[in-house]
Amino acid sequence: MAAKIIDGNAIAKEMRQEIGAEVERLNKEHGITPGLATVLVGERPASQMYVRMKQRACEKIGIRSFGYSLPEGSTQEEVEGLIRELSANPEIHGILVQLPLPRHLDEERVLGSVALEKDVDGFHPINIGRLAMKGREPLFVPCTPYGCMVLLEKAGAQIEGAEAVVLGRSNIVGLPVSMLLLHANATVTICHSRSKDLPSICRRADILVAAVGRPEMVKGDWVKPGAYVIDVGSNKVEDPTAEKGYRWVGDVAFDEVKEVAGAITPSPGGVGPMTITMLLKNTLTAAQRSLSG
Ligand code: GUN
Repeated sequence: MAAKIIDGNAIAKEMRQEIGAEVERLNKEHGITPGLATVLVGERPASQMYVRMKQRACEKIGIRSFGYSLPEGSTQEEVEGLIRELSANPEIHGILVQLPLPRHLDEERVLGSVALEKDVDGFHPINIGRLAMKGREPLFVPCTPYGCMVLLEKAGAQIEGAEAVVLGRSNIVGLPVSMLLLHANATVTICHSRSKDLPSICRRADILVAAVGRPEMVKGDWVKPGAYVIDVGSNKVEDPTAEKGYRWVGDVAFDEVKEVAGAITPSPGGVGPMTITMLLKNTLTAAQRSLSG
């Protein structure tokens, strides 16, 4: 039987409406407009596009967006100085530093200079450290992993006790999503480029999260019948038959895997729209917390 398609666009739309309503309420009842500052260093076109998408999504639901672009050659002190200013600005409730940073900058120190209570991306070393430890709670959870968990929950996956396999160990997705699955009491296996016999490890999974950045790597015979498959991949591949000469595919061979899985996210249209939605949610949470702070 073909898998249930987990519609990230529809889930994101519904959540953004709820977040927008709450933003309006916060404004009406408390006179607070949630504010998100984006910090972009350098001119990578993909990063510029992501930041623009985040800013637009904020404005659409009533969150104020403050955009900061620094030149590629900015020094560590300049970047940290800006972040410290933003951390002290009461109109700004969330700060997002777009990654990757230029290579001469120390990413850990930059992320560590974000005020903990404004770390809406969840990448501050203390928030990541808390996520990695039992019984500790980060103030914020990174947006893409958070979105993966929401999709699993909305699709009705039983996470507790499930065998979860995560393909990929990146700081942005693979590692934090593994921690979230562990917190939700799954039995978690993390695979990476040195893992042996990926297909047989993946076949054990009741929940499979693919976040490796390899187009259509996960094939139909890698997947256990009935599994929940979350495809985080977004890869541009050449396609002479497409109007633009390319198309976007995930890390999962969707057409094959949908015949085996119980539920699956498409890519595009699965995890992608959830990442920004969770950023909006984290920014709203930061603004709500500022009321009691
Ligand atoms: N670069 C790729 N993904 C992300 C993300 O979720 N947040 C930030 N800040 N940068 C990214």
